[in-house]
Amino acid sequence: SGKLYQFKLVLLGESAVGKSSLVLRFVKDQFDDYRESTIGAAFLTQTISLDDNTTVKFEIWDTAGQERYKSLAPMYYRNANCAVVVYDITQPSSLDKAKSWVKELQRQADPNIVIALAGNKSDLNARRAIDSEEAQAYATDTGLLFFETSAKTAVNVNELFTSIAKKMPLE
Ligand code: GTP
Ligand code: MG
Repeated sequence: SGKLYQFKLVLLGESAVGKSSLVLRFVKDQFDDYRESTIGAAFLTQTISLDDNTTVKFEIWDTAGQERYKSLAPMYYRNANCAVVVYDITQPSSLDKAKSWVKELQRQADPNIVIALAGNKSDLNARRAIDSEEAQAYATDTGLLFFETSAKTAVNVNELFTSIAKKMPLE
């Protein structure tokens, strides 16, 4: 029988970038066109099986992106083992906000935290405002995993969480 590992994962990012939608896709394989903005934070879990008989359980804190909840975020990232920082590829301000979350995590969270950057809403390519190459270069320089995702079509959602699981220390 294999081994089970549990990790705390926090999602951060500007309101409406699709944090809750990514979690809903990952946990329930569903999508809502009319998702309500998160109040405070939501907690969900999901388990991933890796090839080598290893199971990773993520305990997920989906935080609220609205400015009035900003002061709550440290409670959720303080003990996190991994983080997904989300922006919307159609909203340049959301990448600035994502970069500021990454800085805050690198200063205040666990020094070993694994951080992934997710450029969400990749299905809206016609309205794209942020180049993949630019975001990838920033992620590489900063030591982040990087995926462009779509919670709507499911593109790269499992890949995002699986690559985090594979980067966690499994000993
Ligand atoms: P807060 O809870 O306020 O922080 O927002 P959030 O980041 O959780 O965003 P949420 O998941 O509520 O999504 C906001 C809106 O974007 C909703 O109308 C979603 O249906 C839509 N949305 C989320 N992901 C995608 C996506 O991949 N593609 C498209 N086209 N729309 C998306
Ligand atoms: Mg939300």
